[in-house]
Amino acid sequence: MRPFQRLSFSSFLLLSLGLVLNLVFVCNGSSTSIFVRKVEKSIDMPLDSDVFRVPPGYNAPQQVHITQGDHVGKAVIVSWVTEDEPGSDAVRYWSENSKHKKLAKGKIETYRYFNYSSGFIHHVTIRNLKYNTKYYYEVGLRNTTRQFWFTTPPAIGPDVPYTFGLIGDLGQTFDSNRTLSHYQSNSTKGQTVLFVGDLSYADNYPNHDNVRWDTWGRFAERSVAYQPWIWTVGNHELDFAPEIGETEPFKPFSHRYQTPYKASQSTSPFWYSIKRASAHIIVLASYSAYGKYTPQYAWLEEELPRVNRKKTPWLIVLMHSPWYNSNSYHYMEGETMRVMFESWFVKYKVDVVFAGHVHAYERSERVSNIAYNIVNGICAPVKDLSAPVYINIGDGGNIEGLATKYTQPQPEYSAFREASFGHAIFDIKNRTHAYYSWHRNQDGDAVKSDSLWFFNRFWNPVDDSKPHGSH
Ligand SMILES: *[C@@H]1O[C@H](CO)[C@@H](O)[C@H](O)[C@H]1NC(C)=O
Ligand SMILES: *[C@@H]1O[C@H](CO)[C@@H](O)[C@H](O)[C@H]1NC(C)=O
Ligand SMILES: *[C@@H]1O[C@H](CO)[C@@H](O)[C@H](O)[C@H]1NC(C)=O
Ligand SMILES: *[C@@H]1O[C@H](CO)[C@@H](O)[C@H](O)[C@H]1NC(C)=O
Ligand SMILES: *[C@@H]1O[C@H](CO)[C@@H](O)[C@H](O)[C@H]1NC(C)=O
Ligand SMILES: [Fe+2]
Repeated sequence: MRPFQRLSFSSFLLLSLGLVLNLVFVCNGSSTSIFVRKVEKSIDMPLDSDVFRVPPGYNAPQQVHITQGDHVGKAVIVSWVTEDEPGSDAVRYWSENSKHKKLAKGKIETYRYFNYSSGFIHHVTIRNLKYNTKYYYEVGLRNTTRQFWFTTPPAIGPDVPYTFGLIGDLGQTFDSNRTLSHYQSNSTKGQTVLFVGDLSYADNYPNHDNVRWDTWGRFAERSVAYQPWIWTVGNHELDFAPEIGETEPFKPFSHRYQTPYKASQSTSPFWYSIKRASAHIIVLASYSAYGKYTPQYAWLEEELPRVNRKKTPWLIVLMHSPWYNSNSYHYMEGETMRVMFESWFVKYKVDVVFAGHVHAYERSERVSNIAYNIVNGICAPVKDLSAPVYINIGDGGNIEGLATKYTQPQPEYSAFREASFGHAIFDIKNRTHAYYSWHRNQDGDAVKSDSLWFFNRFWNPVDDSKPHGSH
């Protein structure tokens, strides 16, 4: 190497210019968070934990949960479990400003899984609700009756503000409990949770002990009985265990959790869409076939042109296995689905894709990688203002712990990554702006770990990548 004193003035100038350019690049480039989390083992809460307590009373309804029940937000599916006997199949409900109580009836089902027998699982769809209205509802009508409430979304419209929470890969550890507590205590109140898959992790127990599906249902009730969670299926919903004779994929999930798939012309509960306030949300299934000619492929091909950005400006996609993620854990598992659908996401200008599966947090730049055609060799992600931002939010806090090993160096498409548990909030303000923030469990309300303004791809398709240092 040339000694420093022999540098000519011009090479000194070039060197300094290089340093400056380098600095600019670093400032606008990727970042791996400097936050170093103490890595502890995640531990499932014991069966006698407060959050798993069975509600008192004969045949008391438990594991109460709601989700959207139609395509536009005027119906709600109420589900619950009774253990002693089937009990009433009805929900009594009334709006806040009305004394007139109505009844809706549904179905009761049970299932067996290896040597486990489920309780009586109830599903009732309440229809023709008024928008933007608080409703009270009661379940367990003949014996122990329990009361809850929910608020319907405002009517669909381009400038309707609405706040979504994002949670993924939750499980039932002490960390899961922290994530849910933080989500619930957040001063920016999430009105609906977009859940990106992997609910109970019961399949980590011997024989997939389905008792852990029941405990999860009781644990999540304190949020999901009061606001809808929009379900995506993950690999932990498969519960495929031929060694114990369980060969029907998604069996426990399918009996316990419903989705309004028929309302969006889907033929399967695992992929569907809903409209809510100013958002059109498409849920995809990473573990159902999506190759050409498959039902999911055919459905998505018809679904994307149906999205009306003049009515629902925000196009959000949920899936379990991420397409863009630079963690070593599950690396490239989402690649085959990316190859099938990414060009459609760019064509239809999806605003944001939320995924889970990798137990860490990561946010991408707006990039696409759709030029490759086998012979041209053009196969690197490039900046693309019509492309979605990909956010990995599989950091709910399950028993498998954090995915702390990243690929090195950090790829340029990766804007921010950190292996911590947490949740996020996507806060739609109007047709052009949404404020997004991720919150790690270690901080109080004051600390924003990652946040940025989203500019809508249809109404405001300017560059919204985050300038350096703007938290
Ligand atoms: C199911 O089988 C396992 C293993 O044989 C046993 O430990 C468990 O107690 C059984 N559960 C029920 C509900 O019978
Ligand atoms: C449950 O409700 C039914 C129908 O009203 C009634 O006959 C029964 O006695 C109740 N059981 C208990 C234990 O309260
Ligand atoms: C879970 O969190 C809630 C609310 O913060 C708390 O009351 C409860 O004691 C926690 N339970 C466990 C087992 O950590
Ligand atoms: C949309 O919301 C953003 C952020 O709150 C605000 O700056 C902007 O003025 C709003 N646009 C309109 C048309 O109100
Ligand atoms: C609550 O949400 C806000 C805004 O989305 C976020 O910045 C903050 O970190 C969150 N706080 C907590 C305690 O979760
Ligand atoms: Fe997963």
